[in-house]
Amino acid sequence: MNTSEIQRVKQRYNIVGNSDGINHALDVALQVAPTDLSVLIVGESGVGKEIIPRVIHDNSPRRREKYFAINCGSIPEGTIDSELFGHEKGSFTGAINESEGYFGVANKGTIFLDEVGELPMATQARLLRVLETGEYIRVGGQEIRKTNVRIVAATNVNMRKAISEGRFREDLYYRLNTIPIQMPPLRDRGNDIILLFRLFAMQMAEKYHLPKITLTDDAKQLMLKYKWPGNVRQLKNITEQMSVLCDKREIDAETLLHYIPKDTESTQLATIAQPGQHSYESEREILYKILYELRGNVSDLRRDMNALRKQVEEQRDLSQVALTKQAEYGTALPSANTPYPQASPFTAPGNSVAQEAEAEEIKEPESLNLNDLGRQMVEKALERNGGNRKKAAQELGISDRTLYRRIKQYGLEDKEY
Ligand SMILES: Nc1ncnc2c1ncn2[C@@H]1O[C@H](COP(=O)(O)OP(=O)(O)OP(=O)(O)O)[C@@H](O)[C@H]1O
Ligand SMILES: [Mg+2]
Repeated sequence: MNTSEIQRVKQRYNIVGNSDGINHALDVALQVAPTDLSVLIVGESGVGKEIIPRVIHDNSPRRREKYFAINCGSIPEGTIDSELFGHEKGSFTGAINESEGYFGVANKGTIFLDEVGELPMATQARLLRVLETGEYIRVGGQEIRKTNVRIVAATNVNMRKAISEGRFREDLYYRLNTIPIQMPPLRDRGNDIILLFRLFAMQMAEKYHLPKITLTDDAKQLMLKYKWPGNVRQLKNITEQMSVLCDKREIDAETLLHYIPKDTESTQLATIAQPGQHSYESEREILYKILYELRGNVSDLRRDMNALRKQVEEQRDLSQVALTKQAEYGTALPSANTPYPQASPFTAPGNSVAQEAEAEEIKEPESLNLNDLGRQMVEKALERNGGNRKKAAQELGISDRTLYRRIKQYGLEDKEY
């Protein structure tokens, strides 16, 4: 294992973790990168599969050519063939012009097929052909075209099960799975959990301009024992919520318990998965199946939209609570228009946030002076609610007592609304 190369990659892509599982996955990615072999990345939802194809492409001779990441689960069945392989003019209603498709455009480059288990059967047949011969035909076309594309695919579904149920072609699976890369579940990564928590705590402190949260020893123990069914994504979400919503900056086990699901199933001691046995075989897979079967249904779309809207609202709520907390900690930004620095992992090459998190030498975000922003927020909320403090506090997501303190602090006691 080339440890220094692996460290370089971690630093460049802001990947945090030092467990054998993550080091092994990166080692395989680096070894296979210079070849044209197809790679299949497998692992539960939220384990961090999406960075691997980028690492492979950037370390391959194709690095200066195109790279496309395509989420196979999000393209409607009716258009996926034309998106991937292009179409001829007039080949279907709406095909006003011809289109080259990803396989044409990405010639000499890399295509990352995310959620490859979701590909419809007809598309699977086309994909197998292009993988075996480099040939494909556009939708509605006759001409055989050639392309030279390296494929990296990822899935969080149990492919063997999909094959046995006739949802995925076995020959395609073997063709894609030339080199498998297994991303381990978070519960099997030991102290990586704490390192990742530090990374996210630091990112959220920057994002919301609040002091960074830390963990007490008992909270750390709980984190290490918890099963993390949603893996790194879940850890990130929980850290974000706690960063904004917790009044104390040091999180103890009791507080942490409020943010992790209460079922004994997931809080019990983590057990190491047996080879070939995947914990995602149960509910999540059933859910996927239902979603898959319902796809195309309008009510489904509406539900997706509602879920999306809820997410946006939740994010807005967090930002709003953060604004009021900034005033409390004196860390608010000078102007409401100043964008928050959005530290995102897996982005800016050279960014060393991840390393800082690992080194434990994390600086607290700069303390900024209290400004008008908090005051404006309070005033606006009071205005909108005709001076009703209870309603304004609810809208701001703070307690009545905190609002009262703010009103006094900003000298708004006598103001009429
Ligand atoms: N080792 C890591 N270091 C830093 N951030 C990570 C790491 N692993 C995952 N993340 C972050 O966790 C989140 C989930 O990762 P990602 O989207 O790659 O999951 P996934 O395996 O593709 O899940 P799904 O199968 O549900 O699509 C992302 O925000 C990612 O940036
Ligand atoms: Mg993904």
